[in-house]
Amino acid sequence: MYSEKVMDHFSNHRNVGEIPDADGVGTVGNAKCGDIMKMYLKVEDGVIVDVKFKTFGCGAAIATSSMATEMVKGKTLQEALQLTNKAVAEALDGLPPVKMHCSLLAEEAIHAAVEDYMKNHPEEVK
Ligand code: FES
Repeated sequence: MYSEKVMDHFSNHRNVGEIPDADGVGTVGNAKCGDIMKMYLKVEDGVIVDVKFKTFGCGAAIATSSMATEMVKGKTLQEALQLTNKAVAEALDGLPPVKMHCSLLAEEAIHAAVEDYMKNHPEEVK
């Protein structure tokens, strides 16, 4: 049912934890299942230099948060805003259709954290 990449990111998730002095934090919830995801960003010169997540959710939500953090690390804020749940799912070699909504949580959490950063640093957003 799950690809090897999903199982790998679920079992050996990358970037779990929190960043105490994060520059941007985003928390989102999935109304369908009640799962919650929190993303922390560290930003330098418009580039995401560190990112960590905490997910209280299903395996697919954990695997997609792990993959999403890997995908935005080293990227600019603008690039991170373009991350889609579809791209995350593709990077994981696909998700079962009933689990696609879980990947949406990863997209929304990254976007929420970037938007939080931009709100706190309006001078950097042009
Ligand atoms: Fe809740 Fe997957 S079932 S995020």
